[in-house]
Amino acid sequence: MTTELPRSLDGTGPDRLMSVVHRLVGGVEWLHRNSRRRTAPPSPVDRDIPLVISETRDEADGVRSLRLTRPGGGPLPAWQPGAHLDLLLPSGRKRQYSLCGRPGERSHYRIAVRRLADGAGGSREIHDELAEGDRVVARGPRNAFPFIGGRSYLFVAGGIGITPILPMVRTAMARGADWRLVYTGRSRASMPFLRELAELPAERVWIRPDTEFGIPAAGTELLAHAAEGAAVYACGPVPMITAVRLALPVSAAKGLHWERFSAPPIVDGREFTVELARSGRTVEVPADRTALEAVGEVLPDVAYSCRQGFCGTCHVPLLSGDVLRRSRARGDDLALCVDRGRGHLTVDL
Ligand code: FES
Repeated sequence: MTTELPRSLDGTGPDRLMSVVHRLVGGVEWLHRNSRRRTAPPSPVDRDIPLVISETRDEADGVRSLRLTRPGGGPLPAWQPGAHLDLLLPSGRKRQYSLCGRPGERSHYRIAVRRLADGAGGSREIHDELAEGDRVVARGPRNAFPFIGGRSYLFVAGGIGITPILPMVRTAMARGADWRLVYTGRSRASMPFLRELAELPAERVWIRPDTEFGIPAAGTELLAHAAEGAAVYACGPVPMITAVRLALPVSAAKGLHWERFSAPPIVDGREFTVELARSGRTVEVPADRTALEAVGEVLPDVAYSCRQGFCGTCHVPLLSGDVLRRSRARGDDLALCVDRGRGHLTVDL
């Protein structure tokens, strides 16, 4: 956990509010270091699975689910709640999506994708260019957000963050565990899988759209539904995860497992340079951008997936330089998405 401070929005100095939040989050991290189970980095999964899109379905405004099957039928590799696929799209883009079907179902996988108009193009390709019958290739499944056995759970999902949470809820139900789900979003129309959730015990599910409450939920509000000693599993946007993390010490919950679906904020970034040895080009990485973003401007096809430092997709061999490690990359690799450099780095790219 770094102690460096975020910059203000105008870039003139440390942001005081974010500095306070950062210190509080740091405290929470320290307090709960032992309550959040450390997980080993996911093993590399090298197999490619050719898949066909056998069904698409609009699940909410801007959210489409894909049902993926083997072209000739047949069972797919097993998966556990929290698992994701790396999807290789026809354009060559690689994107990561949580499996959100029924655990144990191996005749097909289901993923759901929110269309991001200003994203890097993967979600637009899926929404605008892919249709039933089209082929994709998957790698995985692998699991960086494992669901651990317990007796009591609070699930907190924000928007498309419901995707890894949904199989966890079904598994908790099947195990006879005590569970609650809090599901937030901008509006009901934007929240996928509400129809499926309506089939679950209503007293255990709280749907909380901002449009019906006026403001986004506070962390204490989200955690108010936790039973004594409950394990919290949360997936959603950074502000929601931060709110939950800050409120955890004053809740009845015991531990927090979380996954955010956007890149983490850059905390007190310092500029550095990355030399791409194969072309001899040198890329400047500004204080407020990642190496992945900067390198992506000169190498648009540079591979990435999670943008959070855990999937390994963006790792490149480091030839020289001093790395500020913010990922699980090995010592001789650089995770372009989160690692930073001191001064000048040279990579084999
Ligand atoms: S994109 Fe996943 S580790 Fe960088």
